[in-house]
Amino acid sequence: MKEIKKVTWRSPSNIALVKYWGKRSGVQIPANPSISFTLENCYSETSVALVEKERKSKEIELRFYFDGKANMAFQLKMLKFFESVKKDFPFLNQYGLLIHSTNSFPHSSGIASSASAMSALAIALCDLKQELGQKKWSPEKFLQKASHYARLGSGSASRSVYPLISEWGKTKTVKGSSDEYAVPFARNLHKTFHNYQNTILIASSAEKKVSSRVGHSLMKTNPYAKTRYAQAERNLKEIIEALKNGDLEKFGTIIEEEAMTLHALMMCSSPSFILMSPATLAMIEKIRHFREESQLPIYFTLDAGPNIHLMYPKNISKKAEAFIAEELKSHCEKGKMIQDHVGKGPKKVK
Ligand code: PMV
Repeated sequence: MKEIKKVTWRSPSNIALVKYWGKRSGVQIPANPSISFTLENCYSETSVALVEKERKSKEIELRFYFDGKANMAFQLKMLKFFESVKKDFPFLNQYGLLIHSTNSFPHSSGIASSASAMSALAIALCDLKQELGQKKWSPEKFLQKASHYARLGSGSASRSVYPLISEWGKTKTVKGSSDEYAVPFARNLHKTFHNYQNTILIASSAEKKVSSRVGHSLMKTNPYAKTRYAQAERNLKEIIEALKNGDLEKFGTIIEEEAMTLHALMMCSSPSFILMSPATLAMIEKIRHFREESQLPIYFTLDAGPNIHLMYPKNISKKAEAFIAEELKSHCEKGKMIQDHVGKGPKKVK
C-alpha cells in the first residue's frame, strides 16, 4: 500500500472545573459554558496515513487499529465522524485511511478517552489539510479549527487542544467565547495553576454505567436543569476570578460543588444513575477531613464516573503524596492511581 502522507499527533485528556452537562439543539451545542485544565500524562497518540485506495469508489476506506489491533467498534464510530466532516476534508474520500491510535493510560482505567482521542484525530485532520497544501492557517486559527472539529466528535474534546486551560461555550464572561469551539485561556491563569497537580484515584476501572451521550440527554427532562445552567454561569464567573488571583480556597470550593452537582443531577434524573461507588464516598470524606485538619488546599473533582481527581498545588506535593499513600490508596482498585498535572497541550510527533 503506497503511503502518500502521514501525520502523528499526541493530544491530552482534560479535566473540567466547571462541567459541561446537557446540550441545546444543534450539533454538539453545550447548554452551558465549561472550563477545564489540560492534562499532560493522560494522552492519545494517533497517526493518520493517507494511502492509495483499494477500490475506485467514492466511499471512505478506513482501517483503524487501537494498540496495534484492528478495532471494529472504534472504526465504525470514526467512520460516522468522517462522514459528518468529509465535505471539509476532501482527502477523506480521495485516499484510503490507515489510522493507528494508542492511549498512554490503561484502556480499562475508567478514564474517559474520548477527549484525547477525538482531539488527536481532529488535529491530525487539520494538519493533513495543511500538509496537502489545501489550506494555510495561522497557528491560532489552526487550533481553533481543530477545536471545532474535535467538538463534533466529542464536546469536551474541543477543550483539549490548548495548553494549560481552555473555555468552551458562549458566555458574556469570556470575550471571544463560542459554542462552536473552545478558546485558550492561559494568559489569565495565575502561575500557581501552571503546574497544578492532579492525582487520579481509580475507585473502579469498570466501564462507564452510562454513556455521556445518554447523560447529556437526561438533562432535557431534569427538573433542576434551568437552575443548574444558571449555576454553571455563576461558577464560571467566580472560578475565573479565583484562577486569575490564585485563590485556592475559592477554586477548590467551586470544583467540589461542580463535581457534587454533576453527580446529584444524575441521581435525580429519570431514570436515575448512581455513578459514585462506596470507595468514592469514603475518599471524599477523608479528603474533607484531612483538609480541615491540615488546612492544606487539597480539593477534588469528579468526571461522570467513580474516580477522584485530587487537585493541589505543586508546593505541597510531598504532604499530599504522604496523605494519599496513607489514607486514600487503600480505597483504590488494586491501589491504582495515575499521577498527572496541568499540561502543555497537543504535540506533533515527528
Ligand atoms: O464530551 P462528552 O460528551 O463526553 O461529555 C463530557 C462531560 C463531562 O466529562 C462529564 C464534563 C466535561 O465538561 O468534561
